[in-house]
Amino acid sequence: MNILPVDIRRGDHHYDILVGDLLPGRWLEEIEARAKSDKYFAVIDARAAAAHDIPARLAGRRGWRITVLPGGEDHKKIADYAALCESLIADGVDRRSVVAAIGGGVVGDLAGFAAATILRGVRLAQVPTTLLAQVDSSVGGKTGINLAGGKNLLGAFQQPEVVIIDPGFLATLPEREFRAGMAELVKHGIIADQDFFDRLAASAGFFAKRDPAFLAEAVAHSCRMKADIVGGDERESGRRALLNYGHTFGHVLETLAGYDGSLIHGEAVGVGMALAAKFAADRGMIGRNGVQRIVLALRRLGIPVCLDDLPQPLEGRGDWRKRLTADAILAAMLKDKKAASAGLTLILPADIGDCRARPGVPAAAAAAFMLEALAESGEMAVAPPTGRRYNNKETGP
Ligand SMILES: NC(=O)c1ccc[n+]([C@@H]2O[C@H](COP(=O)([O-])OP(=O)(O)OC[C@H]3O[C@@H](n4cnc5c(N)ncnc54)[C@H](O)[C@@H]3O)[C@@H](O)[C@H]2O)c1
Repeated sequence: MNILPVDIRRGDHHYDILVGDLLPGRWLEEIEARAKSDKYFAVIDARAAAAHDIPARLAGRRGWRITVLPGGEDHKKIADYAALCESLIADGVDRRSVVAAIGGGVVGDLAGFAAATILRGVRLAQVPTTLLAQVDSSVGGKTGINLAGGKNLLGAFQQPEVVIIDPGFLATLPEREFRAGMAELVKHGIIADQDFFDRLAASAGFFAKRDPAFLAEAVAHSCRMKADIVGGDERESGRRALLNYGHTFGHVLETLAGYDGSLIHGEAVGVGMALAAKFAADRGMIGRNGVQRIVLALRRLGIPVCLDDLPQPLEGRGDWRKRLTADAILAAMLKDKKAASAGLTLILPADIGDCRARPGVPAAAAAAFMLEALAESGEMAVAPPTGRRYNNKETGP
């Protein structure tokens, strides 16, 4: 398999995303050849470390120090960040050092935020080992941690010096995590590339086999798309917001599920994308056929589109779905203070490959829609366009 380079330019900062056959050891050589540092601090996800024998590969290599951390949303807290920074400082990190974040989005965000803030910024390399991290969190320069008040509330932009992506890491990823990453891949097609969407929709067999050559092509294409979308809009004032397709409804589900592993991000985004497509269809923005294509493709790929598709509740935790009341949904939507006054900005498909930002949607209307749509059958029946338009409180175009 060839290495597919993706060239990223941000002002005067330039770096490569290398996608391809870089295991078992070439990824390390690439980091060292590009960074030319004498101190490397590998921060490694515990499961990826064990599954790919990463500490053994690093042991004895000159200049590398190793920290192994658990993945999972519960390990992206301020205490985890403080402990990591203290340990990196105690190990002698300096401004020339390179922090190599080797893991999923959690380790990437946490180690990336530590790199962004220690000594006012040290160098960073990203080695994403989950599909979600390969197509999403390692591209774009966002890093951050969670606070008690919500996800990713503390963060910084820190562009890496190189991103190393080998689909071989994905061979050991649990099925649920793999499908969660597929949701973000398909999202990129729905947002801005109909051909890509069609190719993914027809590739259930390649996904099932986790075919490395297919995944390398798909991930590289997706990284190029994300880089193109965030290019010139690093701080999310315009086009970058399109990446939030499925996220407004998805975040409500995640908030009510409670980030305890009952529901993972990509699963919430899958249901959120189906809901947003249906919301758009109910307002005559996209035809019913378009919504059906989206929902069918997600289904065919095993990505959840409704509550019935989601995993059973965790033992001993009760069913979080019972918390989906009108008041709770609205409260979760209004967590973003701006939404209370200016309305929500929803990202909605006008067609497959053509999503648009729709500002000024009243949270109450979106919440009522969500409750009703979730209560519908698992088939996500698509109501014919009603011709109903936004009420006069809405400020959308
Ligand atoms: N910075 C961004 O732009 C951005 C974008 C999207 C999501 N995120 C963040 O990403 C996080 C989610 O990332 P994630 O889905 O990768 O979760 P994660 O990092 O928790 O990884 C998921 C699980 O997979 C395990 N794992 C990782 N690599 C493995 C491998 N190769 N084999 C077997 N198991 C492996 C982890 O230990 C964990 O249990 C969230 O915190 C989210 O906020 C950030």
